[in-house]
Amino acid sequence: MTMTTPLISVRNLCVDYLTDAGDARALSKVSFDISAGEILGLAGESGCGKSTLAFSLMRLHKPPAFITEGEILFNGENILNYTSERMQKFRWREISMVFQSAMNALNPVLTMEEQFCDVIMCHTNMTRSQARKRAQDLLEIVDIHPSRLNDYPHQFSGGMRQRLVIAIALALNPKMIIMDEPTTALDVVVQREILQKIYALKQEFGFAILFITHDLSLMVEFSHRIGIMYSGELVEVAPSNKILNAPYHPYTQGLGQSFPSLTGPKKKLTGIAGNPLNLLDIPCGCRFQARCQQVHDICFKKNPKLRQIEPNHLSSCHLYGDPIVQIKC
Ligand SMILES: Nc1ncnc2c1ncn2[C@@H]1O[C@H](COP(=O)(O)OP(=O)(O)OP(=O)(O)O)[C@@H](O)[C@H]1O
Ligand SMILES: [Mg+2]
Repeated sequence: MTMTTPLISVRNLCVDYLTDAGDARALSKVSFDISAGEILGLAGESGCGKSTLAFSLMRLHKPPAFITEGEILFNGENILNYTSERMQKFRWREISMVFQSAMNALNPVLTMEEQFCDVIMCHTNMTRSQARKRAQDLLEIVDIHPSRLNDYPHQFSGGMRQRLVIAIALALNPKMIIMDEPTTALDVVVQREILQKIYALKQEFGFAILFITHDLSLMVEFSHRIGIMYSGELVEVAPSNKILNAPYHPYTQGLGQSFPSLTGPKKKLTGIAGNPLNLLDIPCGCRFQARCQQVHDICFKKNPKLRQIEPNHLSSCHLYGDPIVQIKC
């Protein structure tokens, strides 16, 4: 591996939900890289495929979801070729995940000690007492007293449960953590505390983060780069300070006009008219055509490809440069 190899390279990833109603392509040719220690934010309206992507990166997707095309290269190896045994060793040790709902991620009938020890002993050769000691250390890392190891999930507050889930994700010192809305349903003060904690842990342990949230202001503050998804496609990727200040894609522009700025001047929020696509009925051309204020003829004919518009800034819109790829409809 060279110094420039990304930690993870996702190439043309397609995920389909094969349902009775038809084949819903929830991810379409998604490609991006994350470097070691980098925080990549991922935003987009509900249903655009963020969680589908998160689950696919750990191959935790279940039928009717299937990865139908593409590669997921981790340190240069395509994990889609791993056997399930190899994948089991890979999960949590190389990439771990903080799920969208912390309470659902914890088992309500097991104490936290059992849940920590399960993960640690399943992936290492540690004895029960070594695993317990590691669990106590992990609790301290997330500012929870080690004596609470014998408690059940319902005995913790929402913010503490979220920190417990983060501690479990840290258990094997992974190189990357996927955080799918790690602070949803928490009040803004606790949300900020948890994100600051995650950031401090990242600085200490050096893991990369794929950070999914609906809160764009928080994402801009917390991420190095941000990817914007629309109806299963990645439509823009840029450094976080540019994604809202100088976006190219009309969808990103619309998203920026839907969120209040924490620091900038007050402005009228206009939002984006219309709804995301029905994945069972994808039109020919650009997926954003029906909602786009700057739509052209070509947008109904050709699907624009994500490409570099300026250094470190990718966008997929016909307004910028000639389209490279034409898809068959
Ligand atoms: N089991 C399933 N069967 C069929 N379609 C599904 C299934 N699970 C998800 N989908 C579809 O896949 C698409 C992507 O869903 P996903 O949960 O990845 O979105 P998301 O961006 O994480 O949304 P949210 O922000 O609400 O969490 C949606 O259109 C959804 O309806
Ligand atoms: Mg989701």
